[in-house]
Amino acid sequence: MNVQELFPETFDLVTKAHKGIHGGHDIHHATRVATWAQRIAMNEWGDQCVAKLAGLAGLCHNADRLIEHQYGHGNAPESATRELLTSWLETSDISVDELEIVLSAVLNHGAKNSANDSRVKKALADADKVVNMALDLIIRSGQLYHDLPAVDHVWFVNDPEATYLNPKSSLKDIWYSPAEWVDPSCPFCFCTSLGWRIGEKRAQNLTDYIQTLRAQMEEDGIVFKE
Ligand SMILES: [Fe+2]
Ligand SMILES: [Fe+2]
Repeated sequence: MNVQELFPETFDLVTKAHKGIHGGHDIHHATRVATWAQRIAMNEWGDQCVAKLAGLAGLCHNADRLIEHQYGHGNAPESATRELLTSWLETSDISVDELEIVLSAVLNHGAKNSANDSRVKKALADADKVVNMALDLIIRSGQLYHDLPAVDHVWFVNDPEATYLNPKSSLKDIWYSPAEWVDPSCPFCFCTSLGWRIGEKRAQNLTDYIQTLRAQMEEDGIVFKE
């Protein structure tokens, strides 16, 4: 069963809260993450209960982004996110303990991997990365960073001053996902076997795109700095 069938009331409430939102944090992103979170949890632990909670966490995981719409990027107070999440989760039939597990997974899903991570957090974090590596990332990054150049014509993706928060070109933003999430030494890398399997496949698609583009631009006469 998908999250809409498992949690119809919560699904309706969360869908309404996303009304008018398009882009990387719309309801479609939430349901895609929910689907992968359920699959990843089932594949990793074979536990219906964990899979159900992981799906619910996926459905609700845009909460901080919705709060950011009110307070501005990076300024969402955790208490407001917690309050919104609680109001959604209370419409499901989960226990108080389960609610805490989902709440904490959602609030921490963007944090580094830790030995204390719950199964729900692991499944949610990997699902979010899997979905964020699908090829619509390329279009979304162009929309998000419409003020930046599409491609750095000097450094390509090797500008030593570019960072994740200031990628300096849209292509560099796209480059970070395949470069970091499938690097086992990165504290944000995948942590489940299905996450790794799908992540590596999607990373290869993105890497192929980036390498093909570089070859095309070199054919066009661009010489990049190393
Ligand atoms: Fe996220
Ligand atoms: Fe997400």
